This record gives sequence, C-alpha cells and structure tokens, in this order.
Amino acid sequence: MSMDSRGGDVVVIGAGLIGLAIAFELAERGATVRVYDRGEPGRAASWAGAGMLAPYTERVANEALLGFCVSSLREYPRFVERVRAAGGIDPRLCLDGVVHTAFNEADLNRLQSDAQELAARNVATEMLDRSSLFSTEPWLGSHVAGGLIVSGEGCVDNRRLGRALVSACQTRGVAVERSSALRVECDERRVLGVHTDLGFVAAGAIVNACGAWASHVPGIPARCVPPIEPIKGEMLALGAPDEFVRHATWVPGAYLVPRDDGRLLVGATVESAGFDERVTARGVHELLHAALSAAPSLGSFVVTETWAGLRPGTPDGLPFLGPTPIEGLFLACGHYRNGILLAPVTARTTADAVEGKPAPEILPFSLTRAGTDWPLVERTTRV
Ligand code: GLY
Repeated sequence: MSMDSRGGDVVVIGAGLIGLAIAFELAERGATVRVYDRGEPGRAASWAGAGMLAPYTERVANEALLGFCVSSLREYPRFVERVRAAGGIDPRLCLDGVVHTAFNEADLNRLQSDAQELAARNVATEMLDRSSLFSTEPWLGSHVAGGLIVSGEGCVDNRRLGRALVSACQTRGVAVERSSALRVECDERRVLGVHTDLGFVAAGAIVNACGAWASHVPGIPARCVPPIEPIKGEMLALGAPDEFVRHATWVPGAYLVPRDDGRLLVGATVESAGFDERVTARGVHELLHAALSAAPSLGSFVVTETWAGLRPGTPDGLPFLGPTPIEGLFLACGHYRNGILLAPVTARTTADAVEGKPAPEILPFSLTRAGTDWPLVERTTRV
C-alpha cells in the first residue's frame, strides 16, 4: 500500500544519522515527517563513530551487504551535496583513499593478497613500498614495512553530518523533536501513531531507526522487534597539527582518522558490554598501545577527548530493513559498524519501502530472513 493511500504523517523514531537521512529523503519527496528521539539529534553512535566510509577496509564478508555498502559509498557525494544545499552545512566528505600498513613480511604479503582480491572486484588499489608510504604518511614509525591504499574509500565528519542533516531536515519542514517517553501504538494489523511527551501523534508509517536501542521501543509487538545487541566502541582523540596524518589509516589494532579541527581520532574497541558507555583504562590503553606501536611520534600529542558509543549489532551481522508484519511499521536498524556509510542507501531504500515502491536491495535484510529464533553473539575484539 502506498504512503498516500495509508495517509498520515511519517514518524521516524531515532534521530541518528540513519533516522535523519530517512526523514530528509522522505521530506524531499514531499512527505510530512516527524523525527523523535529521547536525546539530542545526531548523537549516540552517529556522533561517536569516526565516519569511515570503507566497505572493503571493513572486510564486509556478506556479498549482499557489501553490495549495499558499495552502493551507499557511490551515493555519498550526491547525498552530501543535497544535504549541504538544503541545510547550508558542509559535512566535509573526503574520499581520497584509506591506507593500510604492514610492519612485517607476513602482513605485507596479506596486503598483497588483499590487493589482488580487490583488483578482481575492480577496486583500484596501490601497493606502497616503504619509501612511498613515508612520502604519503611521514608520521609512521621507521619500522613500517609498506602499505596499501584502497582508492575511493575515505571518511566524512560524522558530527558535522549530524548537524548538517538536522539543518537540512528543518529546512525541508521536518519536525525534529525530543521526547523522553515514546510509545508506539498499533492495532492487530497496522500502526496508529506514537505517544510522545506532548501527546498522541497519528502516523501512517513509523520507522524504527533507534540504533542500539531498536529492540527497546515500547509498544512494538514482539513479532516486529529486531534482535539488536549494543556493541561498545571506545575511542579517543589526540591533538595533532593539521595534515600530520593525511589519510584515514589502519595500523595493527587501531585506525586513525584525521579531522580538520586539529583532532586525530583513534578507534576503536569492540566489546559486548550491555548499555555501558563508560571509557575504561583498558580501552584507552589498547588504543594508545596500538597507535604508538605503529607511530611512536604520536606519543608527544595530548589526549584531548575520550568517548564510547554503542554500535547496533545483530546476530548475523546484517541490518534489519524494510517492512514488518505490522502494516506501516518499518525497520532501519542494526547497521553495526557501517551505519554512517549506509545512511544514503538506507534513506533511499527505506523511503521507497515507505512509499510502497519495490525495494529489492533490502530483501536480504528483512526481519524474517531466517526465522525469529536469533541467537545473540558475544564479540570482544579490537578494531
Ligand atoms: N566502523 C568502525 C567501527 O565501528 O569501529
């Protein structure tokens, strides 16, 4: 059924990058959209991430998800341009490649085989010998053996993107509102609306874009609740001179992402720790150990910020997107490590689904893809 025939506003629950991107997309298509969140828009994992746009670097193994990530990467420049044009804030997209480093022969051989695999997928890469790597990234320790640059990947300033999307949404007439209590109201068959701090809001469609909290939205019938588990990531920032690090760079045990505001981000731990968002001594130690082992010169920089965020993990690592058994209730959650990357394609395909248009790209990510008996998976690794 199309959105028009269902009637009513679209309510997006969750004002992270995914929820805001969906709201922006739908508003640009002419829908009346309201976004609700318990907290400030653009925060949580959307604010905590490093904004890496790197499906190959992330080693996305599932082919359907990899294809979805690659589509989103392709859509990023146009998406950012539309957001900037609507809201006037530039989210600073940079797609000048991601650098991988090797510090011994075995790792160098692995990079060589990665380069071959990527070439078979028509992804441009360049192996960098020690001296070319130093001319690209002179800050690396003298013990580096070589590297690989994956072209076309990069990063966006996710905190700026959050602000840019809020501004773009507001320009397009989206109401972005905070509500400390939210409850979805449905009958046996379809959604009716949401209860907010300011009363009941009728809705023809509701999108659950609540990230790590997506399985905790009150009022959603059990058969439509996605199995989402928070996966904690701790990060820190060093104060570094501009262009000290030029590319987003992976070193063993950490990634480093430069910002143009004097921060060099170092991430990230990966841990099942419930909804605990505290920064731990172990997390900071692991990140600094990895960064300084690769580049002792970073040791003189000041740690300017530490923080943690919760990735929305799923049992099989795939997001949950599209319709649910309740008419008008849609999912856009479970993006795990790739929420910032997947914002444009999730916005486009979710808007299609809400409008009742075919959205074949999201079929592999349906709630019912493999029954409902989802085991939750423990994950504790670095990076
Ligand atoms: N996408 C990087 C991370 O989740 O740490």
